[in-house]
Amino acid sequence: MLWSLLFITLIERSTQQDPGCSPGWETIKLDDKVAFQSSVYTDKNGVKFSADRAFDGNILISAHTAQETNSWWTVDLLGLWEISCITIYNTNQDNVDLRGAHILIGNSSERNPADTTECATINTTTRGETKTFNCENGTKWGRYVTVYKNTSGFLILCEVTMKGRKKEPFKLIKENKTWADALYHCREEHMDLVSILDNETQVWVGLAAQKADTPFVWLGLQYICGFNFWIWVNDQCVFFDQWAPNETRTAVCGMNTAMNKGGNHLWYKKSVYDKYNFICAV
Ligand SMILES: *[C@@H]1O[C@H](CO)[C@@H](O)[C@H](O)[C@H]1NC(C)=O
Ligand SMILES: *[C@@H]1O[C@H](CO)[C@@H](O)[C@H](O)[C@H]1NC(C)=O
Ligand SMILES: *[C@@H]1O[C@H](CO)[C@@H](O)[C@H](O)[C@H]1NC(C)=O
Ligand SMILES: *[C@@H]1O[C@H](CO)[C@@H](O)[C@H](O)[C@H]1NC(C)=O
Ligand SMILES: *[C@@H]1O[C@H](CO)[C@@H](O)[C@H](O)[C@H]1NC(C)=O
Ligand SMILES: *[C@@H]1O[C@H](CO)[C@@H](O)[C@H](O)[C@H]1NC(C)=O
Ligand SMILES: *[C@@H]1O[C@H](CO)[C@@H](O)[C@H](O)[C@H]1NC(C)=O
Repeated sequence: MLWSLLFITLIERSTQQDPGCSPGWETIKLDDKVAFQSSVYTDKNGVKFSADRAFDGNILISAHTAQETNSWWTVDLLGLWEISCITIYNTNQDNVDLRGAHILIGNSSERNPADTTECATINTTTRGETKTFNCENGTKWGRYVTVYKNTSGFLILCEVTMKGRKKEPFKLIKENKTWADALYHCREEHMDLVSILDNETQVWVGLAAQKADTPFVWLGLQYICGFNFWIWVNDQCVFFDQWAPNETRTAVCGMNTAMNKGGNHLWYKKSVYDKYNFICAV
C-alpha cells in the first residue's frame, strides 16, 4: 500500500515536470555562446554584473541590469536551434521579479517583432525558485533567446539553462576540394552545394563559414562560360548578391564563387581548381 502510494507519487512528480522538456532534448551548452543585456549593473566594489554571468555555472553569481523601464537579456546561440524550454533560477531577493516578462526566440539581435516569436510569458517572480518555462505553443526555432521585461525594475538572472536541438540547414565540410569535387560531394552525401538566394541564408552560411580552415569556402554559384552569366546550382538566377567591392561580375572562364571565411563573408571569384572547404545544403 505504502509502496504503491509512493510509486504513484513518483509517477505524478515525473509527469508534472517539464512536459515539453522530456528526454531527447539536449541541454544547450551556453558557456561558449555570447550574451548581452540592455544595461549592466555595477556594484559599489566596481563588480560588473554582465550578461554572461547568467550561465557561468555558479548560481550565486548573477547577470543584472540597471533599474530601467525596458530591460532585456539575450543570448546568441551562434546557430539555428529548436528551443523547447528555458529554466531560470533566481535567489530570494526583493528586487527579483520577473512577473510579466516574456521569453522570446528570434533570428535577429534587434528583437524586432517580425523576426521574433514568443516562447512563454513568465508568471512568477522566480524569487528563490528554479522554474522551467516550456514554449507554450510548441517548440520555437531561432538563434537568439531573450528574456524581455518591459516593466520597471531590474532584470536579474542568477542562472539560465535551456534545452533544444541544433538545426543545421547548412553544413560546413572541412575538406579541401576543387569546386567540382565539392559539388559532387554535396550531391552524394547531402542535398547540394549551397545556393544563397536571400540575406537570411547569407547570414546562416556566413556563420558556418567562420569555422572553416581555409580562407574561403565554395558556394554553389557558377559562371557559365560561353554564355557569360552566373547561375546557382539549384538553377536560380542571381537576384541577391554579396560580391566584394573589388569584384566584377564579368568573369574569365574557369572561375566560380567562394565566400570569405571572415569579415562580412563577401563573395569572390576563384579558380575552380583552388581547393577550399565548402558548404552543403542538408
Ligand atoms: C528563424 O529562421 C529559421 C530558418 O530560416 C526559421 O525556420 C524560423 O522560423 C525563424 N524563427 C523566427 C522566430 O522567425
Ligand atoms: C499560445 O496560443 C494561445 C492561443 O492561440 C495564445 O492565446 C497565447 O498567447 C499563445 N502563447 C504564446 C506564448 O504565444
Ligand atoms: C504559470 O503558468 C504555468 C504554465 O502555463 C501554469 O501551470 C501555472 O499554474 C501558472 N502559475 C501561476 C501562478 O499562474
Ligand atoms: C509590455 O508588453 C506587453 C505585451 O507584449 C504590451 O501589451 C505592453 O504594452 C508593453 N508595455 C510597454 C510599456 O511597452
Ligand atoms: C585544408 O587546407 C588548409 C590550409 O589552406 C589546412 O590548414 C587544412 O589542414 C587542410 N585540411 C585538410 C583536411 O587537408
Ligand atoms: C542581413 O541581415 C543581417 C542580420 O539580420 C543584417 O545585419 C544586415 O544588415 C542584412 N543585410 C542586408 C543587405 O540586408
Ligand atoms: C579582391 O580582393 C580579394 C582579397 O583581397 C582578392 O583575393 C581578389 O583576388 C581580389 N579580386 C580582384 C578582382 O582584384
